[in-house]
Amino acid sequence: MKDFKNIGIVGAGSMGIGIAQIASTSGCKVFLYDQNVEIAQSSLNKLKKILERLIEKKRINSNKRDEILSNIKIVSSLNDLSVSNLIIEAIIENLNIKKDLFSKLETIVHKECIIASNTSSLSITNLASSLKNPSNFIGIHFFNPAPLMPLVEIIPALQTNINLLDSIRNLLLSWNKFPVIAKDTPGFIVNRIARPFYSEALRIYDEQIADFATIDFAMKEVGGFKMGPFELMDFIGNDVNYAVTESVFKSFYYDPKYKPSLTQKQYANAGWLGRKTNKGYYDYNSSSKNVPSKDVTLLNLIFERILVMLINDAVDAFYLGIASKEDIDLAITKGVNYPKGLIAWGEEKTFSWVEKKMDELYENYKEDRYRCSPLVRKWGNLIK
Ligand SMILES: NC(=O)c1ccc[n+]([C@@H]2O[C@H](COP(=O)([O-])OP(=O)(O)OC[C@H]3O[C@@H](n4cnc5c(N)ncnc54)[C@H](O)[C@@H]3O)[C@@H](O)[C@H]2O)c1
Repeated sequence: MKDFKNIGIVGAGSMGIGIAQIASTSGCKVFLYDQNVEIAQSSLNKLKKILERLIEKKRINSNKRDEILSNIKIVSSLNDLSVSNLIIEAIIENLNIKKDLFSKLETIVHKECIIASNTSSLSITNLASSLKNPSNFIGIHFFNPAPLMPLVEIIPALQTNINLLDSIRNLLLSWNKFPVIAKDTPGFIVNRIARPFYSEALRIYDEQIADFATIDFAMKEVGGFKMGPFELMDFIGNDVNYAVTESVFKSFYYDPKYKPSLTQKQYANAGWLGRKTNKGYYDYNSSSKNVPSKDVTLLNLIFERILVMLINDAVDAFYLGIASKEDIDLAITKGVNYPKGLIAWGEEKTFSWVEKKMDELYENYKEDRYRCSPLVRKWGNLIK
């Protein structure tokens, strides 16, 4: 296995410090750089508080805390990253600023050093093009909060030396993560195939089929999801969730499957962002309860409509080579905590059922959004 003793991290915001915690906990030396050294210091102070809480909960002892902290060194110049075996970038989500950073880093590090980006939405292939030797460049996408979220997506660029995949996979396994490999396409795996959970829920609301509380209740009660789509959007933030949907929609050349919701845009524009503003789809200052409908037919209809859209998109992602079946299901159970993998769920419900439901939706709306994946049809036909 490649030696990953020294890890450079650029950007010490919420993701950078989280990744620093993971790497240092596993015994790597971390060199943490931020253009604003005060941010790096304040993130490290936050990490110290987190470690104190972990001690209180008896998850680590004080020796482990000291070891973790002694493994992290804040550095004040990019040149100090020259000893790194791997550099993970977690700076602002801006293509040109990231590209500029990578071309600078390439002049600093030794030629075996792997440079990785934690971008959520930019093309890894495009980022790789900023390097003279892009074969050592790769996407390593952690989820927020990085120390708690088990999933990590590994995304090779077109230019990436494919031998890197095994070394990065093994490194992430040694960091106790669940790595999956994704093709460099918009949203990678999770941010692509989880979209219908939000967008179909919003569409059902827009069609006045049910209110937020009923849709959430259907997904939790009938589907076994831990959170309903509106609770989850309030948790993520309507601004953040809307921006991801819009970015995926634009990147797919306006495929109607990923069309953002005007309702969500209005909520974001109103500043009703969710929990962080105490108001989103729900009012977190109010003590009045939102009472969902208990109409079983309605609850089933809502759950099945959202579920078939999710399964259809997951199968389509496999059809288009975005990831293996195993990685798609791992991504969805470890990345967004769904009760079952979507392909496994499709097998359980049968793909002929998924095909029938998708065709009913298409017949009803005549919208390309509801097109059935050719692979769902193929798998559905196999067992007819
Ligand atoms: N927050 C999330 O939920 C999440 C999840 C997965 C991936 N990401 C990705 O991770 C990256 C970082 O996100 P974040 O939420 O940690 O952002 P953040 O705003 O919390 O932190 C970014 C940090 O980068 C620093 N920075 C900006 N430009 C820099 C430069 N040129 N050189 C050095 N430092 C620079 C800033 O000072 C800031 O401290 C983004 O690409 C984002 O898309 C974010």
